[in-house]
Amino acid sequence: MELDLVGLLRAAWVAGILPILIASLPFSWTASFHGLVLGFAKRGKIMQASSKKFTLPQKFFGHFYVVAVVWTTFLLVTTWLYAYRTVPMVLKPFHYTTIANQLAGGSHIFSWLKSHSTSVEYKYSIWRSVFLLLLMEVQVLRRLYETIYVFNYRCSAQMHIVGYLTGLFFYTAAPLSLCCNCAPDVYKFVLNGVAEFIVKGKSHMPSMEFDWWEFTIPLVKLGWLQWIGAAIFFWGWIHQQRCHAILGSLRERRDQVDEYIIPHGDWFRIVSSPHYLAEIVLYSGLLVASGGTDLTIWLLFIFVVANLVLAAAETHRWYLRKFENYPRNRLAIIPFVY
Ligand SMILES: NC(=O)c1ccc[n+]([C@@H]2O[C@H](COP(=O)([O-])OP(=O)(O)OC[C@H]3O[C@@H](n4cnc5c(N)ncnc54)[C@H](OP(=O)(O)O)[C@@H]3O)[C@@H](O)[C@H]2O)c1
Repeated sequence: MELDLVGLLRAAWVAGILPILIASLPFSWTASFHGLVLGFAKRGKIMQASSKKFTLPQKFFGHFYVVAVVWTTFLLVTTWLYAYRTVPMVLKPFHYTTIANQLAGGSHIFSWLKSHSTSVEYKYSIWRSVFLLLLMEVQVLRRLYETIYVFNYRCSAQMHIVGYLTGLFFYTAAPLSLCCNCAPDVYKFVLNGVAEFIVKGKSHMPSMEFDWWEFTIPLVKLGWLQWIGAAIFFWGWIHQQRCHAILGSLRERRDQVDEYIIPHGDWFRIVSSPHYLAEIVLYSGLLVASGGTDLTIWLLFIFVVANLVLAAAETHRWYLRKFENYPRNRLAIIPFVY
């Protein structure tokens, strides 16, 4: 199961990255393929009014974040509970065996825990997944709030149905990729818990004492890479929030609801799509916090970069075509580079 999930996720990310990379090659034979891939990725202002085939309203972006919040919250709560019940003393490995044995002995449902590797690295990786899922939760909650309260989507703004399905896939696969090392074990843990509840009933379930200290302290003590990653994540998070607020404020007047205006302020001073740049920064924070050793998280990151660079390049061309007075010093997405 473990191999299948990790292999499946990696294959899915590669399948998402490859078409974008091929479409970006500067050869004449890739030009029509580039048009096809871009057609799927276009939305809102960069989608021509004429290309309305197989499209959905752009405000359906909100669906992504409803899925993301529900799914990430589920993964976070179950993974955190799993970490707390099975490896509570992550930083005191000698205590772990005793506690795991107690759990396994106290309830035969938990006996599968005995078979677990007690390696420090495994325990550490579970708590690291909780840490990553916490950061993801902070991101998707804010994005849900913004799609409802900050952005003023034009009624006529559309996105391609392939883009819509890609978005739903993304917000299912991204949180799962952050915990794919332990997701199969968490899945068994949840199934076993549910089975025990059904067989024994609520009154016969082993009582669970809740210790907030042990619930949170392993996260605080994870290591410096996690805190550097979190700092990078929040740097991108704060700038994305500011840039989204700027975009949302451009159409504050009712008569402006169908208008496009040149945005100014924050990272808009340097690039045309600073909210995409901020997204790349915050995913690079997740990558650093993950320790950079997990190929699945690397592939997730590469997908985010490829996807957003493609959209940012088209957005930049659109601004240059639309506004004669567009600031010429602005680049598309990567400061001083592109
Ligand atoms: N992780 C990923 O792979 C991924 C993929 C896609 C998006 N995202 C994130 O989702 C967020 C939103 O992305 P998006 O593609 O929807 O952003 P967007 O196309 O820039 O649109 C955001 C909102 O701002 C409005 N807007 C944009 N430029 C405007 C202008 N010049 N004047 C007036 N209004 C303007 C848009 O209106 P219209 O609807 O009329 O265009 C829309 O309501 C971004 O931060 C991005 O990073 C992440």
